[in-house]
Amino acid sequence: MSILRVDGERLWSSLMEMGTFGQTPGGGCRRLALTDEDRQARDRFCSWAKALGCSVTVDRIGNIFARREGTDSRAAPVMIGSHLDTVPTGGKFDGVLGVVSGIEVLRRLDELSIKTKAPVEVAVWTNEEGSRFSPMTLGSSVFAGDYGLEAGLGRTDGDGVTVADALARIGYAGKAPVGGREISAYLELHIEQGPLMKEGGEQIGVVNGSFNARYFVATVTGEPAHVGPTPMDMRRDALVAAAALTLEIDRIGRSRGREGRSNAPHLSLYPNVRGVIPGEVRLSCDVRHSDRTEMLAMEQELRDACVKVASERGVEISLEQYFEFGPIEFDPGMTAMVRETAKALELSHRDILTVAGHDAVPMNTICPTAMIFVPSESGISHNEAEYSTPQQCADGTDVLLNMVSKLAG
Ligand code: GLV
Ligand code: MN
Ligand code: MN
Repeated sequence: MSILRVDGERLWSSLMEMGTFGQTPGGGCRRLALTDEDRQARDRFCSWAKALGCSVTVDRIGNIFARREGTDSRAAPVMIGSHLDTVPTGGKFDGVLGVVSGIEVLRRLDELSIKTKAPVEVAVWTNEEGSRFSPMTLGSSVFAGDYGLEAGLGRTDGDGVTVADALARIGYAGKAPVGGREISAYLELHIEQGPLMKEGGEQIGVVNGSFNARYFVATVTGEPAHVGPTPMDMRRDALVAAAALTLEIDRIGRSRGREGRSNAPHLSLYPNVRGVIPGEVRLSCDVRHSDRTEMLAMEQELRDACVKVASERGVEISLEQYFEFGPIEFDPGMTAMVRETAKALELSHRDILTVAGHDAVPMNTICPTAMIFVPSESGISHNEAEYSTPQQCADGTDVLLNMVSKLAG
């Protein structure tokens, strides 16, 4: 079969265009899920899809599907997807590459007058980041049946706004049922978000599996009291205890070298005023490891740390798990196809595990799924400095195009 190539310049210019929605002074993006900036990015996606003659469907959790018909409209579609929402300190590539590369694949198929047998769809998933609404990968998880629709619509942001109301406000409360239909294959192109491929010099990451990750909320209950008169020995300060727990969490990850990770990135504090010793803190945290037994050992160390800090600081700490993923094994036939396609394109490649969650994780439970990484040139993500070169983005999209044309027949 002949090798197809995308238009790298057009891909880059569309990536940069998406980056204008919610652009930050340092060249990154702040485009939280279901905000006006997200609406602008969604609208641009829909206008690109319509210009290609695609039908555009929005489902009840706000996922968008641009569909290019195949010659057999009853055949299950091949789907390409990712997300357009970003974290508050986001860049131009995380998620966006997976969506914009999908549009570039459709454009190129049109240009080459390629008629596929199966339809090809490009999906934009709602709230992948979990920054505004928890949990992450919400739209794709509801689509895959891992999370209930009503539960998803009822999730609230920090101001108490529900997903349902936020969708209605930006005009993306769609009517299509969520999921429950056959997808023949799902492909997601993403930046690596870490330094391994940059260090190793490989051009394509064949994502064959994932780390094991468990996410918790630690609720630290102390006693609110006056900041001034309360003697130090009488305090039960929930924030001081949460700080001690944060250091323990950091230690647990560091003790595992590069195969382990631990995070405590989000904290809510009550009553969070200057005059009161904090009475309650909710700390979101997670532990991750490439090896499941080690991840479970890290969880046990986290539980032990909660007991130790609670007794040392005179507070109560309860730990509640709210999310997990892994171990994931992506479909071996699909990973083999990523390898073969990279080889045919003369792109160097390596197998790699994803450490972060992605929409491909829930999708992998309902259809053969492939994730393709391209290097993060800056080695950093969820940061304005996030960067992959035009060539790196085009390389990954070339792999996508050739796989889609093969899978869709
Ligand atoms: C965020 O991307 C995560 O993996 O938790
Ligand atoms: Mn992402
Ligand atoms: Mn992200």
